[in-house]
Amino acid sequence: MIRFDILSIFPEMFVSPFESSLLQKARQKGLIEIHLHDIRTFALDKHQMTDNEPYGGGGGMVMKVEPIAGALEAIMPFREGSLVALLTPQGEPFRQDIARELATYGRLVLICGHYEGIDERVRTHLVDRELSIGDYVLTGGEFAAMVVVDAVSRLVPGVLGNEDSAGQDSFSDHLLEYPQYTRPAEYRGWTVPSVLLSGHHKEIDVWRRRESLRRTLKRRPDLIRKASLTEDDLKILKRLETEQLDE
Ligand code: 6GU
Repeated sequence: MIRFDILSIFPEMFVSPFESSLLQKARQKGLIEIHLHDIRTFALDKHQMTDNEPYGGGGGMVMKVEPIAGALEAIMPFREGSLVALLTPQGEPFRQDIARELATYGRLVLICGHYEGIDERVRTHLVDRELSIGDYVLTGGEFAAMVVVDAVSRLVPGVLGNEDSAGQDSFSDHLLEYPQYTRPAEYRGWTVPSVLLSGHHKEIDVWRRRESLRRTLKRRPDLIRKASLTEDDLKILKRLETEQLDE
């Protein structure tokens, strides 16, 4: 069981994504809990301001520290067993290994960043970790928080039907998945590689490994360095590299 608390100025954005698919099933089974909190309700002034102009001038608005501090204190008087993460483009890149680490907590608090920036005291005093989901800019941290909830939830035992599924993913072994096919064997003249129809399991394994290496080399050469490769893999890679040069 893992509990997510999401702090956002747009909590309504999360309703429909968390009411479909495996996440909804996981909630119904009690494997995950998702609690949404509107930061605005913790703003103390009468206009319920969550942002203000930056000290020192310059454009844009800055997210205020008090509503976030107030929200955190209200929802988690004790922080043991919890991790507080802030979602912003300045964060550490979120990867599968971080998802695995987050899945070990009993409670994750995700704060969705907004505006041009966030008062630095949120980072220095309130947050354990700052995460980004990639090198592009979103309108706010909400979609990033959804990505984190999804990636972490599927690692909670029981959320995926098949307990193996999470272990066999791309990024667990740092190689991309091999191509998959299903019936029919031919469609509009588009055929399935004959080895997959052969029933030779050993040959199928060899083919899949080669295609996995080929795809990774071509699309994500940065991942190859992290993969644990056998002597055979290295031979295959050497051949694939010369083939690619010939293309
Ligand atoms: Cl966490 N927030 C925003 N606003 N943009 C992002 C991001 C987060 N991660 C990648 N781009």
